[in-house]
Order: sequence, then structure tokens, then C-alpha cells
Amino acid sequence: MSFVMAIDQGTTSTRAIVFDHGGRIVSQAQLEHRQHLPRAGWVEHDPHEIWDNTRLVIGQALAKADITRLEIEALGITNQRETVMIWDRATGEPVYPAIVWQDTRTQPMVDALADEGGVDRFREATGLPLATYFSATKIAWILDHVPGARDAAESGELAFGTPDTWLVWNLTGGVDGGIHVTDVTNASRTLLMDLRTLDWSDDLLAAFGIPRALLPEIRSSSEVYGHVGGRSLLREVPIAGILGDQQAATFGQAAFHEGETKGTYGTGTFLLVNTGLEAIMSEHGLITTVAYRLGDAPPHYALEGSIAITGALVQWLRDNFGTIRDASEIEPLAASVPDNGGAYFVPAFSGLFAPYWRPDARGAVLGLTQYVTKAHLARAVLEATAYQTRDVVKAGEADAGVPLHTLNVDGGMTSNELLMQFLADILGADVIRPEVVETTALGAAYAAGLAVGFWGDLDELRDNWREDRRWHPTMPRAEADRLYRNWQKAVARSLDWVD
Ligand code: G3P
Repeated sequence: MSFVMAIDQGTTSTRAIVFDHGGRIVSQAQLEHRQHLPRAGWVEHDPHEIWDNTRLVIGQALAKADITRLEIEALGITNQRETVMIWDRATGEPVYPAIVWQDTRTQPMVDALADEGGVDRFREATGLPLATYFSATKIAWILDHVPGARDAAESGELAFGTPDTWLVWNLTGGVDGGIHVTDVTNASRTLLMDLRTLDWSDDLLAAFGIPRALLPEIRSSSEVYGHVGGRSLLREVPIAGILGDQQAATFGQAAFHEGETKGTYGTGTFLLVNTGLEAIMSEHGLITTVAYRLGDAPPHYALEGSIAITGALVQWLRDNFGTIRDASEIEPLAASVPDNGGAYFVPAFSGLFAPYWRPDARGAVLGLTQYVTKAHLARAVLEATAYQTRDVVKAGEADAGVPLHTLNVDGGMTSNELLMQFLADILGADVIRPEVVETTALGAAYAAGLAVGFWGDLDELRDNWREDRRWHPTMPRAEADRLYRNWQKAVARSLDWVD
């Protein structure tokens, strides 16, 4: 028997999953890493902890499947996107903790750049608005604040990478010759890559003051980049797939055709619609990104609706209020009341992402009366995910001019049946969950397996997709629209909070 392994390095945890040829999970292991929140708006990870966890989960996943590296045909990597790591090429030491995609410390730099040319000044080249979310200002912040970092970056002593790059560099030998690469999907989230040339842009590098010597080589999402080195349990296994996690989920959902859409419900929620070979610019607040590129084939692009906080709101309720002890307890608590009791929760913890792009927004709970209980609030927390989805679906429909009929979903929150039914009700569309909800890891495994011939073509991957569950809307449309109007009022009140 032979298999493909994927590493999914996410915002809250790192997993290794072994897949068989049918795309089924053979074994998996997962370890959470610490979220460092040194100041309001700052979010950091420890790159060493992430690398240590990666090695551990690789070993655990192999052991659980009772297999060795000799049965692993290829390794795929997928990752939280935009998160910035910079390390010394000679020592392998990070010069600063990883600055996570949710971190908003660079808002002053974003504002200064926007004052010179507006938030959309780089949109035509990159598909992205200027925002703290993307990597460029985080890289500049480290170069500006770590003593000596800028000089060292200019002389080529330092390496930048999103977590994919950090893991591949370490897996392929680190200081003993690790390769310094990323893929087009991750590079498309930095604000530094030109969407059409698929190369770092000198104009963008100059605008953000970032030396080219710091940056990895941009490769496709599916090719053999190198082999695992050293004494790793996976030594000599080819690393053959890299995709940012949301693009990987799109690939894992087999959304290969123009118009196919998926929504991944994790820490945040990210809806992507495959727009084929064309990079379409949104007029309604979505972003344009590379969906995937297989070897030398032309890239596929996507429109994306990025929602910063969905599952993270449930974790916040668990960790900061003790209302629930485990995230899974939110469903029975919310189900103990028939509705939200009039309460709405806008989780604008890092401002609002798509389609609003309002860094000045902050979290708000509206509609409170004495009647509202913790069960109503639990419901409002879950409902926020559905309303935010409708916000980005509405933007996508306005861009495309056609309504959404079905949404393929995946990710941890899709085990919440109450939420999935409410999502179908609020969208007025069918919500479909596949058998394998770990589509992120599956997409990375597919990219790696395609590159080494473990899978032959996209049709073979599509045949692996199997529907598990489908939710039809049952709520009267007038009621869904009333709830959504209240949500929009709540959003309006969350804006203009930060000066
Ligand atoms: O853009 C951020 C996204 O890649 C993070 O995804 O699943 O790690 O929260 P996740």
C-alpha cells in the first residue's frame, strides 16, 4: 500500500494526515500551539513551537497508521496564509516571533500608504486592498523594529517565509541546505507578487521597502520542490505540493471549474469561487487571488470573501467567559432556545474583513434586553457566522450577476448541525458537506500526489468527492431577510469605533 501525507499548519494547530488513494483519511495527528497576545491587536506564534509540533505530528500520524516513510509517496504542505516569519539563514533562528495574519499592529503604516494613493492603489497588480491582513507591512515592521534586521535582510542573511516556506526550509535541511521556496497561492497573499507575472514586483517591493534578497522563490502549487532531508522520519520523501490553506480546501473540494464555490469554516471563514484562467477584479469588496497552479500549466484564479472571525468567536466565548468548557457545548446551549432573543454579535475583533474592509470596526453585541440569556448569546455567536457568509455571498452575486444555489462547506464548524441549517436558511441555498471535511489537508495531498503520479488527473480526484450531508433552507424568506436586516444594522453600529 502507498499513501500521501499532508501537513496542515493552521492558525491554532498543526496536523499531519495520511490519505489513501481514494482520498480517505488513514490516520491523523494534531497539536495546538500557543497564541501569544502581547498587546491588544497583536497576535504572535513561536516558529520553533510550530516546527517542533510538525515533527511530532508527522511521527504520530505514521505511528497511528503503522507505516513508515517508505510507504509515503509524497508530502504536501498547506498553511495559514499571510503569517510572517523571518529567520537567519546561517543559524535558523527567527529574528522575531511570527506575526500572525490577524495582527493589526501595522495599521499606521497601512494608513500612511493609503493616504498617498488610497486603499486600492495596489489592487490592479495584486488583487488585494491595502490592509494589515496581508504580509507586506508585517515584514516591513520586523525590518524596522528588530535592530540590524534591515541591513541583514539587504545583504541576504535573512529569509522571509509564510509557514509553508518555514516548514519546507526546515524539512529539507534547514541550515544544512534547506530550500527557500513558496508557491503562487501563498505569494499572492503578500501584496508583493504581481498576479499576472506571478513574480515579485519591483514596484511593490519599493513601495513597502522590502529587499528582494529576503524573499523565497515562487514555484507552482504542484511539483517536486525537494526531498525531506536529515534524520527526519520522512527522509527522502518528495515534497511535491504547497498551497495556502483556503486554496488547498478549494482544491480538496474538487472545485476545479469556473463558478465552483467552497466555504471553509475554521478560525475564520473563507469563501472562494474559482474564476478559471481569468483574474477578475471585484467591485464589491472581494479579493482576487491565485487558486492554484499545477506545474507549468496556466494558473487558476479565484475571488475570495475572507471573514476574520467565525470559529474564533466560539473559542473566545470558551476561553474568556467560561460560558462553555468545550467548543462542542455551544450547539446544545444554542439549541435550548428557539431564536436569538433579539441579540446580535458582530465579531469585529480585528476590524471587519470582506466585504467591508473596515479596520475601525470593533466587536459589538446589540439588541440586549433583560430577557437575553447566555443561550441567546450562544445563538447570536453561531448566527454571526451565517450572517457574515451572507455578506460575502451577496458581494459575490453582485460581482458575478448570478445567484448562489449551493455552497460546498468544510472545516471544523461544519459538524455543528444547528449552524449548518441556519446557514442554509439565511442564504436561501443548499449547504453541502462532503464525506472528507479535512479538505484543506486533502487539497495539499492532491497537489503533491498529482506531481508524483500517485493520482493521474483532476477527473480522478473529482471521482473521490462524495456528498455526506445536505441542508435545504426551511425558514420563510421574509423571516431570513428580517434577521439579516437586523444584522446589517448591528454591523453599521460596530463601525467608526477606533479613531
Ligand atoms: O488567511 C488566513 C487563513 O489562511 C487562516 O486559516 O484555517 O488557519 O484559520 P485558518
